[in-house]
Amino acid sequence: MRPDRQRPPAYPTELADPCCLPALGELGKMPPHGGLPASLGEGTGTTQLRMDEALVAPGLSGDDGRVLVIAHLSDTHLGGRWAPEVRTRRVLDHLARLDPPVDVVLVTGDIADHGTSEEYAEATAVFADWTGAAPILVLPGNHDRREGYAAWRDAAPDAPVNEAHRVGGAVFLMLDSMIPAPPGERIDPGLLTDASLAWLEDQLASREPGERAFVCLHHPPVEVAISLMDPIRLTNADALAEVLDRHEDVLAVLVGHAHTACATSYDAMARPLPVLIPGGVASTVPLDAEPFDRITPDLPPTFALHLVHDDGRIVTHWRSLPAVGEGR
Ligand SMILES: [Fe+2]
Ligand SMILES: [Fe+2]
Repeated sequence: MRPDRQRPPAYPTELADPCCLPALGELGKMPPHGGLPASLGEGTGTTQLRMDEALVAPGLSGDDGRVLVIAHLSDTHLGGRWAPEVRTRRVLDHLARLDPPVDVVLVTGDIADHGTSEEYAEATAVFADWTGAAPILVLPGNHDRREGYAAWRDAAPDAPVNEAHRVGGAVFLMLDSMIPAPPGERIDPGLLTDASLAWLEDQLASREPGERAFVCLHHPPVEVAISLMDPIRLTNADALAEVLDRHEDVLAVLVGHAHTACATSYDAMARPLPVLIPGGVASTVPLDAEPFDRITPDLPPTFALHLVHDDGRIVTHWRSLPAVGEGR
């Protein structure tokens, strides 16, 4: 993001193994809803998906001190109130204009508001219009429904949809922390199953030495000092911490769900691990002290840009876009 940055040679983009899940930025080139090729993990109780090297846009960061730029947005809630499609498109349009461009777009859950096939079809349409070169990585939240989300990702509906993506010299470990609910119900707190934790352990252990990792999920593993959100955070954060504590070179936990742009830390490794939340695209959950409704559209969509330096430092800039039209 340096103004004088010349477009550098691409980072090598690596594959965990030869497999075939495209990033969502490629959806415009794919058949609509349900047409995504995928490869399913075996015997782990978790669905493991990765992207095809040919479909990964080349990273634009380098390995000589330049930064890896992660555009992090969350909680698009497509199909919900307050024109979420308008808000999501506004954020993506803004990101597509960045020069130099971002290296990866990360969407940390609540893609859909009710998890219907119609909402995922809308997500396909919205993400297909992404004009940037960076891949879009997604994971599910509590408003997504396992059946609909898994169908959208062409994954098995009876297991968490976990994905590993390598972009710009880092691996993004995308965890499904959704708790499936009976039809017509929704369970808001999050949980990482034993199978998902085992998958994470395996992914972290099998990295090349020194490979940087970002652990991405919907539910914050720690409180954010908002009475609406704290009771519905990740319920087994200690189990996640036990896994992370056995590994190095995890730079941050990137989450959504809280609908507030904030940063905190997580006592999960030898040093406190940053927990970074981009805010909500569809709406904002303010602090209890603020004179807003508990969930409000009166604050604009927010996202974060994480600038990751080669020495592991992360500089995060949050942005709110100006209110326009029906998206406020
Ligand atoms: Fe949400
Ligand atoms: Fe959520």
